[in-house]
Amino acid sequence: MATGRTPTNIAVIKYWGKRDEALILPVNDSISVTLDPDHLSATTTVAVSPSFPSDRMWLNGKEISLSGGRFQSCLREIRRRAREFEDEKKGIKIKKEDWEKLHVHIASYNNFPTAAGLASSAAGLACLVFTLGKLMNVKEDYGELSSIARQGSGSACRSIYGGFVKWCMGKKDDGSDSIAVQLADETHWNDLVIIIAVVSSKQKETSSTSGMRDSVETSPLLQYRAQTVVPSRVLKMEEAIKNQDFESFAKLTCADSNQFHAVCLDTTPPIFYMNDTSHRIISLVEKWNHSEGTPQVAYTFDAGPNAVLIARNRKTAALLLQKLLYCFPPQDRDLSSYLVGDKSILGD
Ligand code: PMV
Repeated sequence: MATGRTPTNIAVIKYWGKRDEALILPVNDSISVTLDPDHLSATTTVAVSPSFPSDRMWLNGKEISLSGGRFQSCLREIRRRAREFEDEKKGIKIKKEDWEKLHVHIASYNNFPTAAGLASSAAGLACLVFTLGKLMNVKEDYGELSSIARQGSGSACRSIYGGFVKWCMGKKDDGSDSIAVQLADETHWNDLVIIIAVVSSKQKETSSTSGMRDSVETSPLLQYRAQTVVPSRVLKMEEAIKNQDFESFAKLTCADSNQFHAVCLDTTPPIFYMNDTSHRIISLVEKWNHSEGTPQVAYTFDAGPNAVLIARNRKTAALLLQKLLYCFPPQDRDLSSYLVGDKSILGD
């Protein structure tokens, strides 16, 4: 048995659109920041036993089907790389070829809303691949593991690393060069504070899979974005991260989120992931940044209405929380039920 915990990641340069649906190969590079595992993460336990008649999986306590191609790809790729395992003390020896015959039971929990546009699949699939790899004594490097996680859910490949991560789209048809690389580890740029404003924890209406497919087939803006905008934006974002240049980081992050949602609107039929509250949060941040003359906070929205807000430091984060609580007053005075994570940021 093995247990692992993997945080989710939030893209600051978005992945939207596949050039190969089966292998999950994207139309552009993307860059993300991996969150602190204490707050938004998946915890997965995998077990093998000769007494298990089939592979089974439970997500948040409910059994789910493993028949989908994506789970099957991850299981197949990890099993292919499994190595002999021996624990003399416990008297366990599993030969390489035995792994093919042994079935797994997988139990995974998310400590945050599932499928609500908070990249739960990224954390879940990365955790599944990582933990299965540990159990089956897989020795492949993180780049290789990321390319397996990618076949489960594209954005999952970036959750294999902490810190700032780039998913290189790759050029090869077999996807072997479509892997994630770490740009900077989790100790880099410690001033940043990420606040997630959960606007709605309902499951999204359009899955990212079907949304991307429709965008690739119908949106001219997607083609322009992938070919003309993202390549230079990725280079600028790498520079901004390296130099801890918040102004540039914030401008690129907001612009990229807005262009991703513009692509969604440019899709037939149009996809609406953000709602009025999301738009109000954007206005609040834009007005504040404008009045300060330099960005204080960056916003980004994935395939859902929830806002991911990145403040330049703790002081700004505390101010941001006050502004959010003022504009969106809680129904009762007990803030502890609204705030999850590091509450000390609010001070007194
Ligand atoms: O990996 P998926 O299929 O969950 O797609 C994720 C797409 C976005 O979250 C909207 C953007 C991204 O790069 O994470």
